[in-house]
Amino acid sequence: MKMHSNKWAFVIAMLITVGLLAACGGTETSQPTEPPKVEQPTEIPEGVEPTVPPSPIDSKALLQQRCTACHNLNRVTNKMWSLQQWEQSVSSMIRRGAQLNNEEKEALVKYLAENYGP
Ligand code: HEC
Repeated sequence: MKMHSNKWAFVIAMLITVGLLAACGGTETSQPTEPPKVEQPTEIPEGVEPTVPPSPIDSKALLQQRCTACHNLNRVTNKMWSLQQWEQSVSSMIRRGAQLNNEEKEALVKYLAENYGP
């Protein structure tokens, strides 16, 4: 029994040595043990807005996606409001539950004032 475990210890020690040699030994290894690591962006948990949007804000899409949950777009696009009025309106929609972060809100308010202004 004792012999056996010694033998295994020897084999394991050899394996470790070989492993270490392979890991540290020279640059000329023909087969890299691991593919080069590529940094993966950490995944953003669902429902959490990224602090930095990946692309410029598409205000039209925001309007179509975030402002249609409770009423249709006619309710929005039949207005002719100034920037201030849109700002107030969008703020009040956010209080009601519209999902917009500050940047999105700003972009949307600007878009609305430009396209549905007086
Ligand atoms: C959580 C539900 C909800 C979402 C999301 C929402 N709204 Fe509203 N909105 C309402 C309700 C309820 C009313 C009607 C009450 C009122 O007129 O004050 C309304 C009314 C409006 C009106 C008409 C106000 C008036 O005086 O006639 C406008 C304009 C408007 N919403 C714009 C928006 C815009 C822009 C968005 C997207 C940013 C949006 N809403 C998203 C709930 C919502």
